Amino acid sequence: MSRLEGAAGRTRNTRNKRNARKFGGYWEGSGDISGSFRAFRLFRVFRVLSCLGLFALLCASCRQDMQDQPKYKPLAPSDFFSDGRSARQLVKGTMPYSPEAKATPPITDLSKAPTLPFALTPQVMDRGQERFNIYCAPCHGRLGYGNGMVVQRGFRAPPSYHIDRLRQAPVGHFYDVMTNGFGAMPSYADKVAPDDRWSITAYIRALQLSQRATLNDAPPAVRSQLEQEGQTR
Ligand code: HEC
Repeated sequence: MSRLEGAAGRTRNTRNKRNARKFGGYWEGSGDISGSFRAFRLFRVFRVLSCLGLFALLCASCRQDMQDQPKYKPLAPSDFFSDGRSARQLVKGTMPYSPEAKATPPITDLSKAPTLPFALTPQVMDRGQERFNIYCAPCHGRLGYGNGMVVQRGFRAPPSYHIDRLRQAPVGHFYDVMTNGFGAMPSYADKVAPDDRWSITAYIRALQLSQRATLNDAPPAVRSQLEQEGQTR
């Protein structure tokens, strides 16, 4: 390459010429410049084709394994099992897994359950109050009238817990609403563990009682104090 051409002058043409010189003699056994060009072009086509071939080979080998493995798609029939199904029935007593849940009950309809599945203690009630104020009060309000802050900001208003229908509903109904959601209310199963759902239910029952309680519902120690306050008012 002449000095004049320099680095900036290294055009495609000069590169071709250089290559042509390099390969011309080898391919054609002569110094003829046009023959060298042809040879060089051939060489380039060959190079591109071999790259493409390699690429196609790579792509083809990627699709082999998972794509073509023998498998059953969901609900596909099978003649391997006598019942004709490819999927097996769940083993009896299979429980849904939830990382938070300590004792996840089996999937049964608990919406009619009349009592809590464990003893009601002050600790359960405290826990229920705490969880209720975190997860339910934003919509249902701290007293359960359905006027929480989220509702005041425009979310659909839930019914008050103090209407007759919900006062008479079994505890299981509250558990069920938290577990599966209800109408516009989403499920809280992923936020509130099963035991906590029962605790919240107990607290809702306490809220319901608190709004209709009579003097006789108050413990004797508090009763006289309330009576005095009632008289002074
Ligand atoms: C984002 C707001 C929101 C939160 C938070 C929320 N709820 Fe609700 N809830 C609603 C709405 C809205 C309805 C009414 C749904 C409908 O009727 O479509 C409702 C309905 C209910 C009902 C009445 C179902 C019936 O039979 O009419 C119960 C019980 C209930 N929620 C319990 C809870 C409990 C317990 C929590 C806390 C774990 C909770 N909700 C958290 C919005 C909420």
